Amino acid sequence: MTTTSRVNIHTLRQMKERGEKIAVLTAYDATFARLLDEAGADVLLVGDSLGMVIQGHETTLPVTIEEMAYHCRAVARGARRAHVVGDMPFMSYQASIEQGMQNAGRLMKEGGCHSVKLEGGAAQAELVARLVAAGIPAMGHIGLTPQSFHQLGGFKVQGKDPGGRARLLDDARALDEAGAYAIVLEAIPADIAREISATVSCPTIGIGAGLGCDGQVLVSYDLLGMDESFKPRFVRRYAELGKTIKEAVGAYVTDVRSGAFPSDAESFAAGKSAAAAVPLYSTPAGAKR
Ligand code: KIV
Repeated sequence: MTTTSRVNIHTLRQMKERGEKIAVLTAYDATFARLLDEAGADVLLVGDSLGMVIQGHETTLPVTIEEMAYHCRAVARGARRAHVVGDMPFMSYQASIEQGMQNAGRLMKEGGCHSVKLEGGAAQAELVARLVAAGIPAMGHIGLTPQSFHQLGGFKVQGKDPGGRARLLDDARALDEAGAYAIVLEAIPADIAREISATVSCPTIGIGAGLGCDGQVLVSYDLLGMDESFKPRFVRRYAELGKTIKEAVGAYVTDVRSGAFPSDAESFAAGKSAAAAVPLYSTPAGAKR
């Protein structure tokens, strides 16, 4: 991708057709959105993983549509080029088509997202078709679907037996035919992910699904090594920010305690310059305030 215009669902399909891989990351706030966007991520997913990563829950189940809309708004302010996807949280779409339509509309209208994502395969095909007909692009999500944590009996690799593989293919076909613009394939064997990717016309975005997908997604905090104790097989850490942050904060604490911070240059003096406006906190470039 050389263009700086906004990535949209058609750009993503063209990338698949050209064999260009799609880079997706999760984002939950405006500052991270700006950084990931400037670094070239094509899609920013405001994932309900924020229930675990940001809120500290053990699953994604407690996340509400209001919380998703809040984080989507922040990410949408920070992203200039990337396509912003809002994740539909648990029980914001499972009760009825109408409920799903209303809540997807909230993520678009209140959250400023460019599309929504929902978990489930053939069971969600009708909702996907209705969303698309209403002008709301929808991304599917099959394999390990974290909102079904209790039904699945935990976070487990899916599609390992022949029946499971056949179901995954059927689910992917149903979502593709319903008009999903992309499908997340989470924690499934690489060979079935490759077969699905070759079968469906829309791009597949893998997480723990091998190289045969049309794109990859990771939780940004995992890729950046924010939690030093968390290293599942499918994550590659590109930084050790958890360690870096702790070292930086430790140095700050030491300086505060010893009186080495702030220096005169970091303090204001009386006189003319004291009345001048000063920058207060950083805000992502391009943020709409
Ligand atoms: O919630 C999320 O962040 C996700 C991705 C990991 C695919 O669904």
